Amino acid sequence: MDFLNIINRLKLNRDLPDEDLKLLIDSAEANELLASAADEIRRKNYADEVYIRGLVEFSNICKNNCYYCGIRCSNAKAVRYRLSKEDILDCCSEGYELGFRTFVLQGGEDPHFTDEVMCDIISSIRNLYPDCAITLSVGERSKESYQAYFNAGANRFLLRHETATDDHYSRLHPDDLSLVNRKKCLFHLKEIGFQVGSGFMVDSPYQTTENLVADLRFLQELQPDMIGIGPFIRHEDTPFANFESGSLYKTLRLVSILRLMFPYALIPSTTALGTIHSQGREMGLRAGANVVMPNLSPKRVRELYMLYDNKISTDEEAAESVEKLKKKVESAGYRVVTARGDVKK
Ligand code: 5AD
Repeated sequence: MDFLNIINRLKLNRDLPDEDLKLLIDSAEANELLASAADEIRRKNYADEVYIRGLVEFSNICKNNCYYCGIRCSNAKAVRYRLSKEDILDCCSEGYELGFRTFVLQGGEDPHFTDEVMCDIISSIRNLYPDCAITLSVGERSKESYQAYFNAGANRFLLRHETATDDHYSRLHPDDLSLVNRKKCLFHLKEIGFQVGSGFMVDSPYQTTENLVADLRFLQELQPDMIGIGPFIRHEDTPFANFESGSLYKTLRLVSILRLMFPYALIPSTTALGTIHSQGREMGLRAGANVVMPNLSPKRVRELYMLYDNKISTDEEAAESVEKLKKKVESAGYRVVTARGDVKK
């Protein structure tokens, strides 16, 4: 198979027919060629820069019951927590000192965080740190709510679509969640003017290669600024406890394919990649990712935001270890920069 020819067409056209995409997704022989083409494109657009985002996991209380997720509402074993506004502001203050210029507020869909509560937190951060980007990752809300967060000073929003195939979506989620609504939320966010991030899990239960192609096609329609993907990782207290975790190399091939399809996208080398392999984060960068999101949450809650088994939260995952992270990123051939790191388009 002439992988170089296929990859060159992808590089040139930012697109391929479904059959060629499927071949690349499934062929281990393409690993290195894909990574080097993706690295060429990332260096053309972003040089060797890696942007860092300080992740504040502010609540693991969630009203949803996604079958894959460790903080699903019916996991009675999860020890629940919720950070106060003061806790969150302390995280930002510590993060700012460490050089972070983007704060990502991520949480379960926790009813405590009403629009009023959210807007108060967002506007406080906005006033204290006018030079920083505020990213939200708080799930599905009404367009009015999203607009209120934007008006309060939030700039970016992460909401993975998880899978762009209806019947696959319904095998991963209970009946009260739908792909239609997820997509509607994503388009609302775009209309409001957020920089929008979406993405999917690789090797989630029942996923086919066709499903992954549909994910790429949906992203072409959405044209997100940020794309986050990671391998599915089992969590022992979920209905998917007995499914295998996802493939490291398939995830890396998809990172490279995404870089070639979306040359300007901000693509994180995710915690899930770092969890399934000790060098996963660096491998993600070498495959075309250009963002890392270390954990700024208070140490006492880090172990509790367990989306999947063994999720890493110490070492260079921790924001306070940013010096260690810088060295790791350098050893992979890149350079951490503390710029806000908005999308270059
Ligand atoms: N394995 C991998 N990723 C997961 N997520 C949730 N549960 C898991 C899991 N078991 C991802 C989802 C979600 C993001 C916050 O974490 O894609 O959007």
